[in-house]
Amino acid sequence: MEFRHLGRSGLMVSEISYGNWITHGSQVEEDAALACVRAALDNGITTFDTADVYAGTKAEEVLGRALKGERREGLEIFTKVYWATGPGRNDRGLSRKHIMESINGSLRRLQTDYVDLYQAHRYDVSTPLEETMEAFADVVHSGKAHYIGVSEWTAAQIREAHALARELRIPLVSNQPQYSMLWRVIEAEVIPTSEELGVGQIVWSPMAQGVLSGKYLPGQPPPAGSRATDEKSGSMFISRFLTDEVLTRVQQLKPLAEQAGLTMPQLAVAWVLQNPNVSSAIIGASRPEQVHDNVKAAGVKLDAGLLKAIDAVVDPITERDPAQTRSPAQRP
Ligand SMILES: NC(=O)c1ccc[n+]([C@@H]2O[C@H](COP(=O)([O-])OP(=O)(O)OC[C@H]3O[C@@H](n4cnc5c(N)ncnc54)[C@H](OP(=O)(O)O)[C@@H]3O)[C@@H](O)[C@H]2O)c1
Repeated sequence: MEFRHLGRSGLMVSEISYGNWITHGSQVEEDAALACVRAALDNGITTFDTADVYAGTKAEEVLGRALKGERREGLEIFTKVYWATGPGRNDRGLSRKHIMESINGSLRRLQTDYVDLYQAHRYDVSTPLEETMEAFADVVHSGKAHYIGVSEWTAAQIREAHALARELRIPLVSNQPQYSMLWRVIEAEVIPTSEELGVGQIVWSPMAQGVLSGKYLPGQPPPAGSRATDEKSGSMFISRFLTDEVLTRVQQLKPLAEQAGLTMPQLAVAWVLQNPNVSSAIIGASRPEQVHDNVKAAGVKLDAGLLKAIDAVVDPITERDPAQTRSPAQRP
């Protein structure tokens, strides 16, 4: 495993981190979840990402059990707050009330006294940013989180929050956006602003949820057991990538991966790590073998010719519009 600084902070994170959205507490059984976390640890992954909302709060519990007994100082545990975790109007968003309640719930479920990074899962249009940042400052000062991050915030939102964080003297160090060969919307605005401010990207779905593994074939039903067949939630989220045009072009990446001596999953993960503003790529997995495969992307350098060839294949199917970085227009 290789390690990078999280933004301009002193915190080191594993270049490849492990996340449990869709899988833990939902798509996969507990034994598979535990085996995936074991595989991650055995391969040198130290950074783990979850959220209060995943599997209706069950994902944090599974991760807490999976990491129990590990040396806490050897891990970086990240979670998030914003999406609804209960039926009440205050069980969601970034109000002081919900932040204070949600961090306590997360710590209890994760069986830890603190998280290393606490992230605003989206921007909350119905809470003043000052209220949110002051609540985050109290979370940091009470020792419940060491660093603050955001997720899917625009460049302007990151800039405003970063200025407040400086005033409050708390470290806002990261953004967690979607980023892959097929989804490059952060390149135009979010990345230049983040570079200027010293904010690092912890990118999600680097494999476009499995699509860039090449296992989904155009005109064919999805393989049994894959995310596209998960009726609980996975099939809905992956559907935007499952068009014949996308799947046909993804197949054209196979010879490029072979020439580079990489598997398709390794090529996809290595590709996001070529961007120096990316601090870590969060991989998901439903089976430990996937973790063993994907981690080999750490430290891989892709040459300029290969990157150009990849661009030529995916250009017509790549989303680049910065307006795609957005949060709900109303609190959910
Ligand atoms: N901040 C946010 O809003 C946000 C949103 C989404 C995700 N995230 C974070 O990002 C993490 C990763 O997201 P993701 O799970 O979509 O990432 P991903 O790495 O793009 O996709 C992971 C899925 O692809 C399939 N896969 C993985 N390795 C494979 C391999 N070697 N061969 C074939 N298939 C393989 C597996 O699904 P199957 O085996 O089931 O097909 C696996 O669960 C999440 O857990 C979460 O921590 C954050």
